[in-house]
Amino acid sequence: MHLVSWPKPPTKEQLMLHQRIVSATLLLFVLFSAELCVSTLNAQQDIPDKSDKIPQARRIYLGREIAQTMHYTGAPWLIRENRENEERCSLMLANLKIKTGMTICDMGCGNGFYALQLAKMVGPDGIILAVDVQPQMLFLLRARMEAEAIENVTPILGSFHNPHLPKNSVDYILMVDVYHELSHPEVMLKYMRDSLKEDGQIVLLEYREEDPKVPIKPLHKMSKKQILKEYVTNGFKLTSEFNKLPWQHMMFFGKDPEWDRQTNQ
Ligand SMILES: C[S@@+](CC[C@H](N)C(=O)[O-])C[C@H]1O[C@@H](n2cnc3c(N)ncnc32)[C@H](O)[C@@H]1O
Repeated sequence: MHLVSWPKPPTKEQLMLHQRIVSATLLLFVLFSAELCVSTLNAQQDIPDKSDKIPQARRIYLGREIAQTMHYTGAPWLIRENRENEERCSLMLANLKIKTGMTICDMGCGNGFYALQLAKMVGPDGIILAVDVQPQMLFLLRARMEAEAIENVTPILGSFHNPHLPKNSVDYILMVDVYHELSHPEVMLKYMRDSLKEDGQIVLLEYREEDPKVPIKPLHKMSKKQILKEYVTNGFKLTSEFNKLPWQHMMFFGKDPEWDRQTNQ
């Protein structure tokens, strides 16, 4: 006689293992979808047209090693309570000499520590163009804008080589602790130069490499000599500087018209 043997019911351990496999697969699916969303967003911004080919990222520029982009999970550090004590942010803002109605770009805005303060300073007729390459940073910025009911900030998802700024329209481009991590410094400087009004300026803040007491990793600091080398090479001239911040250089750069004459010859 042929006896049919039915499968045994699964043991408790087998059931638990099965549950774990299903949960892990689901988690992987959610993470993959989130990553896909972000890369699609990036890709949408990165699609080059004929006039905007993606240039090679640099590791070294004019003898300086380029630092890695600060990851968005570090965003709470940007709005830490003692930032004012350490960096005297309000003294920096006072020295920007902002007028109401100005258009200011906060380049590499992160979660908007400066963008939101600038928005209040330029008033309802002014505009803040807040550019970052990490959509997660812009997400955090938007949440902070909503919490403070700020409406004159336009978040812009830039790509690593192109900030997607309008031409001839910006009074100031503020870059706080950003320039040293640009993977495409010269192309970015070119786009930024094009976006400035005739008398517009880049305001650059970088941790002082010359000062060993500034408690920041060497790769995230810059010397004044190196900054000048890179900016002069790319058509800027130093118009003024403020040397009383505890940790940072604060340097103002305008367009050098002589550079335009030479490069157009
Ligand atoms: C150290 S954080 C500084 C954030 C902000 N400026 C502040 O001081 O609170 C540097 C930021 O620059 C952004 N960044 C890096 N490369 C960029 C690029 N090519 N264009 C725009 N933002 C960029 C990073 O994503 C990061 O949010």
